[in-house]
Amino acid sequence: MNPTPHALEQLRDLALKEIGEANDEQALEAVRIRYLGKVGRISLWSEQMKSLGKEEKPVVGKLLNEVRSTVTGSIEQRASALQLAKEAQALSGVDVSLPGTPAELGSIHPLTQMLERSIAIFRRMGFALADGPDVDDEWHCFDALNTPPDHPARNEQDTFYLPDGRLLRTHTSTVQIRTMTAARPPIRVIAPGAAYRRDEVDATHSAQFHQIEGLYVDENVSVADLKGTLEYLMRELFGPDTAVRFRPHYFPFTEPSFEIDVKSKALKGGEQWIEVCGSGMVHPAVFEQVNVARMDNAYDPEKWTGFAFGLGMDRLAMILFDIPDIRFFAQNDLRFLKQFA
Ligand code: PHE
Repeated sequence: MNPTPHALEQLRDLALKEIGEANDEQALEAVRIRYLGKVGRISLWSEQMKSLGKEEKPVVGKLLNEVRSTVTGSIEQRASALQLAKEAQALSGVDVSLPGTPAELGSIHPLTQMLERSIAIFRRMGFALADGPDVDDEWHCFDALNTPPDHPARNEQDTFYLPDGRLLRTHTSTVQIRTMTAARPPIRVIAPGAAYRRDEVDATHSAQFHQIEGLYVDENVSVADLKGTLEYLMRELFGPDTAVRFRPHYFPFTEPSFEIDVKSKALKGGEQWIEVCGSGMVHPAVFEQVNVARMDNAYDPEKWTGFAFGLGMDRLAMILFDIPDIRFFAQNDLRFLKQFA
């Protein structure tokens, strides 16, 4: 064996030629391995250095270093050139001057719009948001709300029961109980959400509908506070000329109880009263039930009073947007939905 600097230079030139000919990453990698890999042709020269004489060693060593760095540099250059070419190729079919594909903008569902408007108004009055599950138990839905087992609302025909005895809540009033068992008074919350009933489905009845529950508990809360709160809401929603009527009604969990009707010239259907809300003053028996569950007297009915209401959101949206059929909300028909975009 007679290694000479010349042979190394020949090897370098050969490597540079092959690098230049490598037309993709794999080919280039093969060249790299062939010359600079563990047993590559340039790498093997390091081994052979040992067998060189004293004078030759530094000369060849220096040349070997030069050759190695030249070849390494050349491979790197080639690699980035190949990468650039690849990117150019990928973009070659793209004409950036062509008009793009328009992304279709979605819009907010009318029920959600109604909900968001109402929530914003309540927030201005200082109500916080509360929440509860759609699947709840009989205690939260009925017992705690002073609704005895023989009450017609508990009829299996009126509610969806799960095999384990739980049910789809028939109103958002469950959140009154959940809020009071979790926190001490004063309370000022609203709880928007779905409710379910086994109604005959028609233009004004749906198995799932939406409510905003409200609960205000403090000292000296009166019917006047309830009235002021809901009148303010209705006028903000439907305009300053909106008339609001409180009609005596019965709910097991409020006393006295009212149904609330609105009438506004601004609304289609004009001079007609439309029922939108159930409400009343929280029944002392509800506070008592909550106290039992809390195992304290936080809601002492002698000290605290409160009002509660359940707003029918579907009904409100139907009035505001003049929607004739509650079933439209759930049918996902674009011809309907686009009208509220
Ligand atoms: N939960 C009642 C309903 O769904 C409405 C209501 C809520 C009434 C709060 C009084 C107080 O019909």
